[in-house]
Amino acid sequence: MPKPIEHLMRPHLLDLQPYEGVDPPEVLAQRLGLPPERLVKLDGNENLFGPSPRVAEALGSFEGYNIYPDPLQRRLRTALACYAGVDPDQVVAGAGSDELIDLVLRLFLSPGEKVIDLSPTFGMYAFCTRVNGGVLVDVPRDERWEIDSMAVRKAVDEHTKVVFVANPNNPTGNLAPLETILALVQTGSVVVVDETYHEFCGFTVVPWVHEHENLIVLRTLSKWAGLAGLRLGYGIMNPRIVQRLLAIKAPYNVSVAAEQAALASLEDTDNLLQRVRLLVEERERMAQALRSLPGVVVYPSKTNFLLVRLPGRSGSAVASALAQRGVFVRTFSHPRLADCIRVSVGLPWHTDTLVSALRSVLGGQ
Ligand SMILES: Cc1ncc(COP(=O)(O)O)c(C=O)c1O
Repeated sequence: MPKPIEHLMRPHLLDLQPYEGVDPPEVLAQRLGLPPERLVKLDGNENLFGPSPRVAEALGSFEGYNIYPDPLQRRLRTALACYAGVDPDQVVAGAGSDELIDLVLRLFLSPGEKVIDLSPTFGMYAFCTRVNGGVLVDVPRDERWEIDSMAVRKAVDEHTKVVFVANPNNPTGNLAPLETILALVQTGSVVVVDETYHEFCGFTVVPWVHEHENLIVLRTLSKWAGLAGLRLGYGIMNPRIVQRLLAIKAPYNVSVAAEQAALASLEDTDNLLQRVRLLVEERERMAQALRSLPGVVVYPSKTNFLLVRLPGRSGSAVASALAQRGVFVRTFSHPRLADCIRVSVGLPWHTDTLVSALRSVLGGQ
């Protein structure tokens, strides 16, 4: 009898828990027996305005789909660098910032080495650390979700390679100040500041990349530009790190479609950033409406989502009841978030539907 195929697999991957991504609308609609247009999908922090109208035009008229993309991403890196106010040799693009999280770990982390996670935070840092055979060291955030930089300093030792900081943080929505980030940089580990929600708050540590070669900033076009489905993220860092990431990535990691869509979006930033301003206004309206429901705690947010605590309730039970009403929100396995849901900010009618569905769930109707 030959041994089962698992015998040949890498042992540390055999019982790895998958990252639980969000299901697409057609799957959600089928599960509930609802028409897709009735869904209110607030579980993925997606941009419900959709992409710039220029994206469809660019993709419809593009003629190079039969040709591989530029492995060195020259045009794309130049356009992203211009948008971010840096040099093209400081920029590398990936299939979402998700791919860059993995690539950074592949570059810096050997099996058994440590990564610092500031929980509760974005689950891909822990997931990619495990896939890469690293050891996760959790330094929990305090009760206001702030980072304890002294505790991080204490946790760092000679085996620590990377510290991940989502800033603003997902799912807590808060922003760490510059001093905290610089204190983490002083540890000498690679500090990855994930600025996925940068456009919703305006804060960035990009200028400090020039001074600190161990500081890496990640960004994406998934949120402000509405390109989550096309997968386009980028990193800003020391050019020597860019060269190594370009050397180890798959040659054609960014599709020509994602590249064309990104170029078209970067030519329509006024329009896209106006939508971001509308989402920020809608976020505040949503926060106020949710706070008016009895027993609902809404954390302040610098992003396109809100973390909502429902004391005495199970977040997943509330989410299931909302799903029955066609409204999808995110829940968490983290024990500190057991009574929480995270809701993405969409258009005004999405807010209104969410608020009335939540009122009905909490009122037991
Ligand atoms: C903090 C954070 N980083 C990264 C990502 C993934 O972004 P992308 O779509 O660019 O892979 C997300 C997505 O929600 C996020 O919240």
